[in-house]
Amino acid sequence: MATTILNHPLIDHKLTIMRNKETGTKEFRQNLDEIAMLMAYEVTKSLPLQNIEIVTPICPMTGKQLIRPVVLVPILRAGLGLVDGFKTIIPTAKVGHIGMSRNEETLQPEEYYAKFPSCLKEADVLVLDPMLATGGSACAAITNIKKRGAKNIKFACLVAAPEGIEVMEQKHPDVDLIVAALDEKLNEKGYIVPGLGDAGDRLFGTD
Ligand code: PRP
Ligand code: URA
Repeated sequence: MATTILNHPLIDHKLTIMRNKETGTKEFRQNLDEIAMLMAYEVTKSLPLQNIEIVTPICPMTGKQLIRPVVLVPILRAGLGLVDGFKTIIPTAKVGHIGMSRNEETLQPEEYYAKFPSCLKEADVLVLDPMLATGGSACAAITNIKKRGAKNIKFACLVAAPEGIEVMEQKHPDVDLIVAALDEKLNEKGYIVPGLGDAGDRLFGTD
């Protein structure tokens, strides 16, 4: 499957506000929410459609409808910041949750929660997380989702490191990656450079 780097002017403008260390919780959240709506448009561009016969007030016609239900899966916590924006664009979407916490010393993801709607197997599943750093959290979340039968999976993130993209392409070559911005590298603590810091902490005001 494919990796798409969006490089969209509006997203880049809003992402720069988020990256700025002077930006507080309110503005950080608001810009993430706005970016999520813009990303939802891009991420859903390739969803498959089927024909449906309808009658307009003028005449019968063959229209289009999505073939599959859409399930959003935010990776907790920071992925929650993308959910409202995606739900605004896809109001019928169901939402599953997966909790992943990256161990700060080993950088390995630790799963602490998982709950999914029963239509996961036949759905288009959009996994959401603002950050793809080592790729450990996203890979583990997608492995879990696949074990539960999901087949049509896309992963959307705001900022990615080249290391994370490589790991995802190796471990989950069947999953489309949609990335708003590709950054330079990871630092010695596994943070994305230049990045935006700890997305979960900035989103929820923790530290
Ligand atoms: C952050 C982020 C990703 C993960 C990325 O979550 O939201 O899930 O790190 O890093 P990785 O690609 O190296 O796995 P974190 O574990 O800090 O949890 P949080 O969302 O609760 O803050
Ligand atoms: N998780 C974050 O929130 N930020 C990073 O830069 C890396 C992992």
